Amino acid sequence: MNLEKNIENILLTQEDIKKRVSEMGKLISCDYAGKKILMIGILKGAVVFFSDLAKTIDIPVAMDFMAVSSYGHTTKSSGGVRIYKDLDVSIQGRDCLIVEDIIDTGLTLHYLMESLISRNPRSIKVCCLLDKPSRRKIDIKPDYVGFEIPDEFVVGYGLDYNEYYRNLPYICVLKPDVYTK
Ligand code: IMP
Ligand code: MG
Repeated sequence: MNLEKNIENILLTQEDIKKRVSEMGKLISCDYAGKKILMIGILKGAVVFFSDLAKTIDIPVAMDFMAVSSYGHTTKSSGGVRIYKDLDVSIQGRDCLIVEDIIDTGLTLHYLMESLISRNPRSIKVCCLLDKPSRRKIDIKPDYVGFEIPDEFVVGYGLDYNEYYRNLPYICVLKPDVYTK
């Protein structure tokens, strides 16, 4: 599979992402000054963003991960959300920051928030790299957003199509024929 030849256009370059991620890290460090946070990464899409973001935060950070079901093998939401891997630690009384790759319909995040709120954290905020507000089915707003993007299926920088393209260092749209192969 030749990754480059399947790309229609690059939406966000490595430089765009690097600059914005570091701004987000500064803002988060400021907002939580004097506190410690538990960064909760949502596998697998958020891993690339998560690790870059963490390196730009200069307050004490602990890390944990959850895996939830999302699109499976298509580009449209299946509607069902399931936890495949839960947190290893208790979040009771802790300041939690959920780190997501993209918020689309909002169903995944809504389900996650319900589950996490029931565990009595001190606070929960949401940080996502990408937001597609025009696709929202549930009224939910992330606290930190990297970029708002139009209703297009994107890959790269952690985001996948059929589990591939996560390793691209930028965010792009694939050629339509990729989905019909
Ligand atoms: P939601 O539940 O509809 O908000 O979907 C969130 C999840 O769907 C994300 O965590 C992604 O895994 C996946 N997703 C949504 N839009 C895209 C996209 O454009 N590219 C790749 N994955 C996406
Ligand atoms: Mg996915």
